[in-house]
Amino acid sequence: MTTNSSQLTIIRPDDWHLHLRDGEVLASVAPFTARQFARAIVMPNLKPAITTVKQAVAYVDRIVAAVGESAFEPLMTLYLTDETPATEIVAAEKSCFIKAVKLYPAGATTNSSEGVTDIRKCDAALEAMQEAGLPLLVHGEVTEPEIDVFDREKVFIEQVMMPLMNRFPTLKIVFEHITTADAVDFVLGAPSNIGATITPHHLMLNRNAMFEGGLRPHNYCLPVLKREQHRQALLKAISTGNPRFFLGTDSAPHEQHKKESGCGCAGIFSAHAAIEIYATVFEAQKALDKLEAFASFHGPDFYGLPRNTDTITLKKTPWVIPDSYPLAGQTLIPMMAGETLNWKLM
Ligand code: DOR
Ligand code: ZN
Repeated sequence: MTTNSSQLTIIRPDDWHLHLRDGEVLASVAPFTARQFARAIVMPNLKPAITTVKQAVAYVDRIVAAVGESAFEPLMTLYLTDETPATEIVAAEKSCFIKAVKLYPAGATTNSSEGVTDIRKCDAALEAMQEAGLPLLVHGEVTEPEIDVFDREKVFIEQVMMPLMNRFPTLKIVFEHITTADAVDFVLGAPSNIGATITPHHLMLNRNAMFEGGLRPHNYCLPVLKREQHRQALLKAISTGNPRFFLGTDSAPHEQHKKESGCGCAGIFSAHAAIEIYATVFEAQKALDKLEAFASFHGPDFYGLPRNTDTITLKKTPWVIPDSYPLAGQTLIPMMAGETLNWKLM
């Protein structure tokens, strides 16, 4: 890493949690990721979900087509269901391009209706993953309607994560998009086969951002934004340079009209400026020296993949984030629309 007050060069980062969607939306959003990240773990929550190696093969081809000449490498995931057989896990591991399996508790978030109703139904698949060294990526929220939406991550740790970790002690688990001090403490106290991704929005925003002067649907995501004390815990986690925490944007595009609706979709699109937003957060924390490891080293180290070797350069030069981008003939409102960022990817 080379840095001075006006320029920052780091090894090219990877995004360890990304929604690329499909079809025309995929074509609209994939170039944003490909220009800054070498690789990304691509979420399988399409409709229908990517539950088989065969579906993942077809999807990876569509992603490669969408990024054109770029050297960007999609790292694929399978969507875990109650019925995922151990044989599909073995086939995934053999495929070499499927790098993980995603657990969505049924009903937890966008396109999760095919998700897992009871994790104990997945024992055979989890056993095979533990054996193969294939990581389980966890959307860590319980779904019982009686549990307060702001407590769902904390309750998930107690009810699902701890028992899961105890039953599969060597299974690699990534606690995705953590949002609470409870999750930070859990990861810090867990063995080294447990890691966590942290998004730009959970680092930048607390729950007030959803209600600033009125209802702000573009700041609605899942897990929902939390209190400032939780954001501070995330900031502390990244500032210490602990290798168990790494970059995962959870960039999740939805058309403007689906966000600005009587029942708006969850998801914040950040791929247009992800590395710049992270740089802004790390600088505000006086921890710019920790950005490169968080963005470019901790993820591949956890997954057992090689680190990238080429670099990207960010310059200290103010730019205004567009109010919107085109999205498959519709409109996409990006994170921090209309706001100024001081770091710009060259
Ligand atoms: O905010 C979110 N959006 N959280 C998720 O877990 C899913 C994602 C999406 O797919 O839109
Ligand atoms: Zn996600």
